[in-house]
Amino acid sequence: MREVISIRNLEYIYPDGTKALEDINLDIFKDESVGLIGPNGAGKSSLLLHLNGILRGTKGAVKVLGMEIEDKNLAKIRQKVAIVFQEPDDQLFMPTVFDDVAFGPLNLGYSKEKVKERVKKALKKVRMEDYEDKCSHHLSLGEKRKVSIATVLSMDPEILILDEPTISLDPRARRELIEFLKELNMTKIIAGHDLELIVEICSRVVLLDEGKIITNGNPREVLRNRSLMELHGLEVPLSLRQQKITR
Ligand SMILES: Nc1ncnc2c1ncn2[C@@H]1O[C@H](COP(=O)(O)OP(=O)(O)OP(=O)(O)O)[C@@H](O)[C@H]1O
Ligand SMILES: [Mg+2]
Repeated sequence: MREVISIRNLEYIYPDGTKALEDINLDIFKDESVGLIGPNGAGKSSLLLHLNGILRGTKGAVKVLGMEIEDKNLAKIRQKVAIVFQEPDDQLFMPTVFDDVAFGPLNLGYSKEKVKERVKKALKKVRMEDYEDKCSHHLSLGEKRKVSIATVLSMDPEILILDEPTISLDPRARRELIEFLKELNMTKIIAGHDLELIVEICSRVVLLDEGKIITNGNPREVLRNRSLMELHGLEVPLSLRQQKITR
């Protein structure tokens, strides 16, 4: 397996002095699906934002697809590493859904026809093909989330990073997203509190708390460990609990 992300001794302190990440060491390999879990404030979103250089470590190094996170590599890295933010409003800023989904491919210099084709394909994947002309800011939260995902699919990235992708999706939309992600053949990193999704999709899970990696391993083994989960503000997902048979 080829490593596509390598993080060494990463530390990040926000300008107000909050230490969000401390001595993070992590390798992610091609075509892996890695879940990132931990309580509120653990540092999940902060860590993800380092993977395409939105945040830069105060110590340590991050390498993506063999490239150091440095100014000269950023454009290339952002083409290959797509992040769907926790807040859809951070992702959607153009007047219409079409423009938002077209933004990435337009910046990559594709022809109008090619951009149109990519937008249609990406919106179809998230079942939002009828919303092209709608104003992104008038969409419901779940619809915004689907369009946010389309804005990165249209770039055809190599690494897909999703921060809390199922929040505010209804059960059908959540199920469709899970099935879609299962079939999507690329490196995926998924952060969040939807632990059932992690069990279904991820081959590895990383538990973060107070900015540090607590454990890194098989999702079923980690998520089934009740004392570990409870110590870090989480709980064993229903699907992994021992069934009690009562008569
Ligand atoms: N812009 C910021 N300025 C200062 N501190 C911040 C900023 N963003 C996040 N933090 C702090 O950094 C820590 C990690 O936050 P982060 O958003 O990465 O957590 P998280 O694991 O994603 O939590 P959640 O599950 O709530 O999304 C928290 O203590 C948070 O208060
Ligand atoms: Mg977060």
